[in-house]
Amino acid sequence: MSTLGWLLGKVFSVTVTLIIILVIITFLPGIPPYVNFTKLEELEPPLPLEGALAKNNKLDRVERILEGQIVGPESLASRQPNEIFINLHGGKIVRIWGPSYEHSKVVTAIAPECDEAKWGGQVNERCGHPLGLRFGPDGRLVVADCVLGLLAVDVETGEQEVLFDLMEEVDIEGEVAMFPDDLDVDREGNIYWSDGSAVTHVDQVLIDFAASPSGRLIRFDHKTKTNKVLVRNLHFANGIQLSQDEKFVLVSELFKNRVLRHWLHGPKAGQTEMFVDRLPGFPDNIRPNGKGGYYIAIITVFPESSLRVLRIAGRLPWLRKLVTRVLYLTQLLLETIGKLDPSHSIDQAAKKIFNFLTLSQHNLRHSNFSVVVEVDGEGKIIGSLQGYSGQQVLISEAQKVGDYMFFASPYNSYLGKLFVGEVKEGMKQQQQPQPQQQQQQQQVRGKEEL
Ligand SMILES: *[C@@H]1O[C@H](CO)[C@@H](O)[C@H](O)[C@H]1NC(C)=O
Repeated sequence: MSTLGWLLGKVFSVTVTLIIILVIITFLPGIPPYVNFTKLEELEPPLPLEGALAKNNKLDRVERILEGQIVGPESLASRQPNEIFINLHGGKIVRIWGPSYEHSKVVTAIAPECDEAKWGGQVNERCGHPLGLRFGPDGRLVVADCVLGLLAVDVETGEQEVLFDLMEEVDIEGEVAMFPDDLDVDREGNIYWSDGSAVTHVDQVLIDFAASPSGRLIRFDHKTKTNKVLVRNLHFANGIQLSQDEKFVLVSELFKNRVLRHWLHGPKAGQTEMFVDRLPGFPDNIRPNGKGGYYIAIITVFPESSLRVLRIAGRLPWLRKLVTRVLYLTQLLLETIGKLDPSHSIDQAAKKIFNFLTLSQHNLRHSNFSVVVEVDGEGKIIGSLQGYSGQQVLISEAQKVGDYMFFASPYNSYLGKLFVGEVKEGMKQQQQPQPQQQQQQQQVRGKEEL
């Protein structure tokens, strides 16, 4: 037999073996992760950047405050002008105040044993990972924490009430609570919150991306302390926002680039409908724009080429199952080897595999395009804030407080701040200090107080 014939024979047998292994991985039952894969609804292409979405550079003027001193401020809440509260990875709650928000101080921590936590770390039993903040009608700050659960915190005394504890199995209509992400509180104190996914934790969000939708919109009754599911099978339930009259509640469905409206009162009570779709990327938190409409923060915008891949993958559940299983087994293997590696670099690599940040960073390498979409009270897009320079990226929440707009992110080590008030004649210099100058001032002051 010739050498070539021998070589071809080898290639053939290796290929056949590989195919058999892949087929086994795909179809053998009982291989983790234990999630379902079904055909996904076709992802609609994002709306073109024209009309109300016309290109602009508003986000390129954002100032970064407390840069390098904070980790992952995903959400913010305000109860009066010139004061906001942000949450940090690890569970700290920070108050930022002053005419141009020049002061800052840690007011409390919802996980006191945990001082320092970095994003990308594993779900730590003791470390908080707060994702949503709102002031309730009783003046307490309600926190949705994807590790700890739902808490109400008195920001003056630091006293906290655990509304439900994720460390214990919280039964919600036969399924456990898994991933509290964002919330809103009605006038009576009932809490509307999103359980991002019913199958994965915070560091494994991309498993949920590949799997069948399992996110839920849930209502926590403040009197009975029980939870009721309002909407299920969302492909990651993210931002939550009640309408001003509390007749409906909005929920962003992250992996479908859209926001849904669930009616609570009126003739359509109990029904869920489209509010806005074909957003330019994955929608995160929603907050009021002060004029009856809303700001929808887009956490990541993916390139068109990825969109094509996503649509094909959406049609092929077995392909998603195969890729997810292979990656999952790789992760297990790396974690096992990582136990022997004192530098933890292998362990770190393992944790990145299904981390949402991995996808976001991939998208950022392609383009720094970042966007916040503004819609009216009926979901019609009326404007946007866009950026291309990388000054403000990965926005999880945009909120207007007085004359400023703030931009939060679970992945940034700063909070974005933009002056959006009216500049009065002759006051230009005072009102709008040079971003660079102000940034430095704030860093110095922040250091004293944080
Ligand atoms: C995005 O912005 C960062 C920082 O401003 C820059 O280093 C990077 O090259 C930019 N990337 C792209 C793709 O423009």
